[in-house]
Amino acid sequence: MDHILRDKRILVGLSGGIACYKACDLVSRLVQLGASVRVVMTRNAARFVGPLTLQALSGALVHTDMFEPAGQDSLDHLRLVEFAQVFVIVPATANILAKLAQGLADDLLSTCFLAAGCPVLAAPAMESKMYLNPATQANLALLESRGVHILHPESGHLASGAEGVGRLPDRERIIEKIASILGAGDCLKGKTVLVTAGPTREALDPVRYLSNYSSGRMGFALARAAARLGAKKVHLVSGPASLPTPLGVFRHDITTAAEMLEAVKPLAAKCDLVLAAAAVSDFAPETFAPQKLKKGALKNSLKLVRTPDILEYISKNRKPGAVLVGFALETENELENGREKLRRKTLDFIVVNNPLHKGAGFGGETNRVAVLDAAGGETDLPLMSKEELAGRLLELAAGRLKP
Ligand code: C5P
Repeated sequence: MDHILRDKRILVGLSGGIACYKACDLVSRLVQLGASVRVVMTRNAARFVGPLTLQALSGALVHTDMFEPAGQDSLDHLRLVEFAQVFVIVPATANILAKLAQGLADDLLSTCFLAAGCPVLAAPAMESKMYLNPATQANLALLESRGVHILHPESGHLASGAEGVGRLPDRERIIEKIASILGAGDCLKGKTVLVTAGPTREALDPVRYLSNYSSGRMGFALARAAARLGAKKVHLVSGPASLPTPLGVFRHDITTAAEMLEAVKPLAAKCDLVLAAAAVSDFAPETFAPQKLKKGALKNSLKLVRTPDILEYISKNRKPGAVLVGFALETENELENGREKLRRKTLDFIVVNNPLHKGAGFGGETNRVAVLDAAGGETDLPLMSKEELAGRLLELAAGRLKP
C-alpha cells in the first residue's frame, strides 16, 4: 500500500544538536517512503553531521548558507519553502526556538521559517535543564500559539549521560506526526465553524463575580486548528481570556453567560460545526448590586439563578446536518455523566475530561480526554498538548460533516 508520504515534498531543517545524527536516519526513511526531501542546516548542525551525508541520503544539494552560489540545485533559497508542503525542524535547539519565536532571520533556516507558507513542525531535543528553562518553555508556547506544531521531547537517556526529558522522539513517531499534519489537509474547506471558549463571569456587585478556572486554551486551540484546516469562517465566542486571537479567526468577546447566548444566537443556524468548549458559569447572582456589598449583607444573601444553557440553544437552533461537539468536565463517573449529557443535549460528540487527573483539565497546556459519540463509540486519547488534541478532535468531527 502506498504510504501517505509518497510524493510529498518535505523540507527538513537541522539545527545544531547531537540529535542531528537521528535526523539523518529520518531523512533516509522519508526518502524510502517516497517523499521528496530537501535539507537546510544551520552552520552548527553542519559541525555535528556533514552536509555530504544528508546530500547522499536526500539525493539533493544541502543548503547551509544564505549566500552560497545559486544554480547548483534546481531550487534557490527561498524557493525551498515554496517547494515544501511541510517544514520539519529536527532537532530544534533552544537557540533556534528562541530565534523563531522572536522572528529573527539571520541564517537560512530561520529565514525559511519566516517565509514558510506551509505547516511547520518543530521537534525540540536538548538537555533537560535547557528544555525546562522558562525561556524555552515560553518560546515553545508562543510558537505553538502561532500554529507551529511542536513534537515535544520524551524522557530517557540523554547525550550527557543523565536521565531526563529532552530526547528526540523516535523516527516512527516523527513520521506519524508529519503524516498527521499532511493528512489533515483541508478537511474543513468551505465550512463555517463556531467555537465557544473560556469562562464566563457573573457579577455580584461592581467588584465581585462568580467564575471558574477556565483559561480558554482548549477553545482557542480549536479555533486555531479550524482555521488551519481550511474553514471558510471561524467564529470564536470567548469569555475573559488573556490569549492572543488565532490568525484568521473572528473573535467575539463577552463576559457573562447571557452575553455569550446573545453572541451565539445569530451564528447558531449558520455554522456547520460547533464546538462548545466554554466553561459557562451554571449560576449567576439573582441580582446585581450597583454598590459594593457590605460583608454583613453578603453572608446570607447570595441568591443564585441558573444561566441559559448555550449549547442546548445551539442544539435546538442548529443548521440541518450541523455537527455539535460538547465538553464535559467531570470529577467522577465521567463516562456515564458524559453519555447522559450527549443524549440530553443531542450532540454528535462529547469530549470528557477529569480536571483531577494529572495533566488534564483547566489552565494547563495539556489534556487527556475520552471522546464519546452518538453511535455509542468511545475513543480514548492519551495525554497530549491542547494544540495537538484540537487537531485530533477536529479531524474526528470533520469525518461526520456532509460534503
Ligand atoms: O451541563 P454541562 O455544563 O456540564 O455541559 C457542558 C457542555 O455544555 C459544554 O460543552 C459547555 O460549553 C456547554 N454549556 C453551555 N452553556 C451552559 C452550560 C454548559 O453551552 N450554560
